[in-house]
Amino acid sequence: MNEVISTTKRVAVVGATGYAGAELTAILARHRGVELVGLYSSSGGASAPVTPSAPTLVAQPFTLEALLDQSPDVTFLATPNEVSATLAPQLLDHGIQVIDLSGAFRLGEAALYPAWYGFAHERPALLDEAVYGLTEWCNGELKSARLVANPGCYPTSILLALRPLTYVIDRDQPVICDSKSGVSGAGKKSDSAWSFAELYGNFKAYGVGHHRHEPEIRQGLRLGDRAPLVFVPHLLPTFRGILSTMHVAFVRPMTSEEVAAAYARAYANAPLVRVLPAGELPELKNVVNTPRCDIGYTLIQGGRRAVIVSVIDNLLKGAASQAVQNFNRMCGFAETEALT
Ligand SMILES: NC(=O)c1ccc[n+]([C@@H]2O[C@H](COP(=O)([O-])OP(=O)(O)OC[C@H]3O[C@@H](n4cnc5c(N)ncnc54)[C@H](OP(=O)(O)O)[C@@H]3O)[C@@H](O)[C@H]2O)c1
Repeated sequence: MNEVISTTKRVAVVGATGYAGAELTAILARHRGVELVGLYSSSGGASAPVTPSAPTLVAQPFTLEALLDQSPDVTFLATPNEVSATLAPQLLDHGIQVIDLSGAFRLGEAALYPAWYGFAHERPALLDEAVYGLTEWCNGELKSARLVANPGCYPTSILLALRPLTYVIDRDQPVICDSKSGVSGAGKKSDSAWSFAELYGNFKAYGVGHHRHEPEIRQGLRLGDRAPLVFVPHLLPTFRGILSTMHVAFVRPMTSEEVAAAYARAYANAPLVRVLPAGELPELKNVVNTPRCDIGYTLIQGGRRAVIVSVIDNLLKGAASQAVQNFNRMCGFAETEALT
């Protein structure tokens, strides 16, 4: 039976014409507790339909004044990192809750931003306040959040798969995360290296040792500075989807039953995470265009090591649908409202 929705939130989206923002807008447009009061793209752009499939959803050139005129309760930022870093504090100062899809508020330490993101944080206190919105690992904190830092797409796929097992992962041995993403991970405005002409019939690794998601993964796994993490992102010749393969060693031999029990404890009440039986590995095609994460694992070497595979849609569980999951929890709607 459908839940009765008695409250409505006034919601705005900045960056509504981007890959993530368009998905987000489409989800919010069917959300029964949302009144979409403003859709914006870059201030240089003209008014433009957010997606061809919904010609009535039109984004306006962004100005802070235009957004404030609409008095949104919540604003989603699906904007580049630097834009979010500037805009989120301004919106918070006007009493507007913010869910930011960029990396501007994901890292707890301001000192990491110049090296990994190329800018210094002007409001580092907000890094302490921001709730890292890996939804399944949030408890009550989303309910009182003013600012949610929506996780990165690669970190979402990796952290959902590894967090339930961190208690038994051997931190003296490398945690290897080998991730492959469809091209939409780079957004609309990317250079020729990300164009389909370059990627079709091709497959390549990139960003090894300097991808922005590396400190986020390290932070999310509580690995500290020194424990060995090897993160290797790759580009798949597909439009959307991420498949991450993780190689971990355990501090003691594990059985399939123990691993299954750890996942069951973590995700018993998680409607959008599906853990497959031992030895069954997930496939991209089963999650693309869904808000779900699928996880599978195989124990090797007598249970002393495991290969764990997770799949998500980078634009949904890796961005837009997770942002709406967080919004749903924040505002007291059913977690899967507008998502399933
Ligand atoms: N793509 C993914 O898989 C993914 C996953 C997780 C998180 N994210 C994060 O989500 C954010 C958006 O990513 P995306 O891939 O959707 O990027 P995108 O396709 O390049 O879209 C960026 C959006 O931001 C708007 N924008 C740019 N500068 C602006 C400004 N100064 N004021 C207002 N709007 C501005 C753009 O408008 P115009 O088009 O008019 O310039 C566009 O709507 C990024 O921070 C990204 O890191 C993306």
